[in-house]
Amino acid sequence: MTRSAGRRNMTEPEGRSSGGMGRRVGPRRRAGDTATGRSFGEEGGRLTYGSYLRLAELLAQQQPQVIPPAHDELLFITVHQAYELWFKQLLHELTAARDAMTPGETWRARQLLQRAHVIERLLVSQIDVLETMTPQDFLEFRSALAPASGFQSVQFRELEFLSGAKDPHFVGRFRALTDAEQASLARRLAEPTLWDAYLDLLMSRGLPAATDDQILESLVAVARDRASHDDLWPLAEDLLTHDELAGLWRARHVQMVERQIGTKSGTGGSTGAPYLHKRVPLRYYPLLWELRDWL
Ligand code: HEM
Repeated sequence: MTRSAGRRNMTEPEGRSSGGMGRRVGPRRRAGDTATGRSFGEEGGRLTYGSYLRLAELLAQQQPQVIPPAHDELLFITVHQAYELWFKQLLHELTAARDAMTPGETWRARQLLQRAHVIERLLVSQIDVLETMTPQDFLEFRSALAPASGFQSVQFRELEFLSGAKDPHFVGRFRALTDAEQASLARRLAEPTLWDAYLDLLMSRGLPAATDDQILESLVAVARDRASHDDLWPLAEDLLTHDELAGLWRARHVQMVERQIGTKSGTGGSTGAPYLHKRVPLRYYPLLWELRDWL
């Protein structure tokens, strides 16, 4: 049986090429070298996995505070940090989705919103990980957290502002914001929301959207004639899914909070679960929900 000499299975260990029992077909190489002469795993040589991802810095950021150490504090920190990383990614995706609507690139806005949905589902299910902590184990370190609270998450509030729920009162209620955080929140309050971008899109297609009544009328027109508005309708549905998933997170979060601390007040100074329950019904796009009544 013959085979071409140039192509060799790179995964085969040296000395066992299929050219024949123990017969070598190329120059002698060290274990781990590839046919190109570079060492496996060091392609390019400049970056490594660790340096590219700044792992030394990243993995030094989980610093439990309590003495004596509490086993679950590392989980608590890791889960919150993972949330903040995903919040950063979500802001990146949702900002780009909004910006894609302006030139009418609805396919791109939809693609980015759908990525956001997958991340948001991950954020809802990530609560399961933290819920493996028992309330007793949480109490071992909870008092050391005060007055820190998820309430102070700047990126969470940026996500709300960007999505459409702009409430400037939150900015005044944050303690000890850095200048950079102040600037981020001010920028989000000033810039258009996803909803603003969608309304501009409606108007660019000749659908009036200056008042709530006009918007509702236009949304109904789009919904009733999907063939003529075959990108506006699914884009509206993608916005609604984003809204729905944010609501699911709020509902899931308060459920976990009740499981962990019952009706105790929050470390951030709120009433705790009662405050969070009041936030569950928040909707970014109430008119997209109301639209259902008119179909
Ligand atoms: C044991 C786990 C947790 C408990 C007991 C808890 C408790 C609370 C409480 C009581 C509040 C109300 C504000 C306050 O007074 O502190 C709150 C708000 C908040 N928490 Fe948590 N939380 C937990 C985990 C998380 C996680 C993993 C995140 C992810 C980032 C998070 C994000 C938030 C956010 C964004 C708010 C503000 C919500 C709003 O204003 O609508 N929390 N949390």
